[in-house]
Amino acid sequence: MASMVTGSDAIVLDSLLEKVYRDTGYDFREYKRGTVTRRLERRLQATGVRTYLDYMQFLDTHPEEYHKLADDLTIKVSGFFRSPYTFQQVTRLVLPELVAYKRKQGERRLRMWSAGCARGEEPYSIAILLAEFLGHRRPDFDISIYATDISRQALGEAQAGIYSLKDIEGLPEAILENYFTRREDYEMRADIRQMVSFSYFDLTSTIQQPFVNLDCIFCCNVLIYLQSQLQERVLGMLYGSLAALGYLILGEAETPTNSLRDKLECLDAKARIYKKVTY
Ligand SMILES: C[S@@+](CC[C@H](N)C(=O)[O-])C[C@H]1O[C@@H](n2cnc3c(N)ncnc32)[C@H](O)[C@@H]1O
Repeated sequence: MASMVTGSDAIVLDSLLEKVYRDTGYDFREYKRGTVTRRLERRLQATGVRTYLDYMQFLDTHPEEYHKLADDLTIKVSGFFRSPYTFQQVTRLVLPELVAYKRKQGERRLRMWSAGCARGEEPYSIAILLAEFLGHRRPDFDISIYATDISRQALGEAQAGIYSLKDIEGLPEAILENYFTRREDYEMRADIRQMVSFSYFDLTSTIQQPFVNLDCIFCCNVLIYLQSQLQERVLGMLYGSLAALGYLILGEAETPTNSLRDKLECLDAKARIYKKVTY
């Protein structure tokens, strides 16, 4: 059945997103409206409901629909080394300087955050990147990669670390050989999995930052779904989580950020790699 959603539904849409927030804590109120309406349209079609108002009533009688809606609104498309250029530039511009700085400071801890980690492809790519870069020096460092997401289902799958042939498509044979165990599917090797810890964190709840003193934050393909005010709030929170020498990596898909221009040095405008120096 075709749904009947028009531009005049904007106010009802506000109430619908308000209701979702009130009833579940999922806060999509400041997500870009284009994505939200496209995804909502899918839910209307899946539930056979015609208008946003009807959908609000449907949510009351079918509370399990809240999770399906949240699942549809959080787009979890990802991939290992999704933007090869970004990872290449991290190896070139970030890791040598960061590792040299750590050595100079006599510090062993390397702490990274993959914010919006989907099914684990990004944090595991970071772990592999570090393993490749450090090589035999890896035991010299105590590495923690924190990986957070709003989707508990994605986090569960990420934690399991098992990927299909389609998931690992395009990865070089040497990476597959060295970091995955081939069973029916492809399983992340235990030592790589141990570098990453997954937890739930909603980036819209910027009242409190979950981590501080991080060396590197990856927040790629997440901000694009948020309206500019929320983007700025999240960016402020990420900035506050960085160590005195810290790097923020936003990747190729994000739009340039004005608010951080005075606070961060841009190392690569295409991969959106920024550096904070306050020491
Ligand atoms: C398109 S994926 C990007 C995954 C990975 N960073 C990459 O670049 O391939 C966006 C991820 O952000 C997550 N996400 C969306 N809104 C979020 C929020 N408010 N807090 C935390 N994660 C969120 C989604 O669940 C999804 O896993």
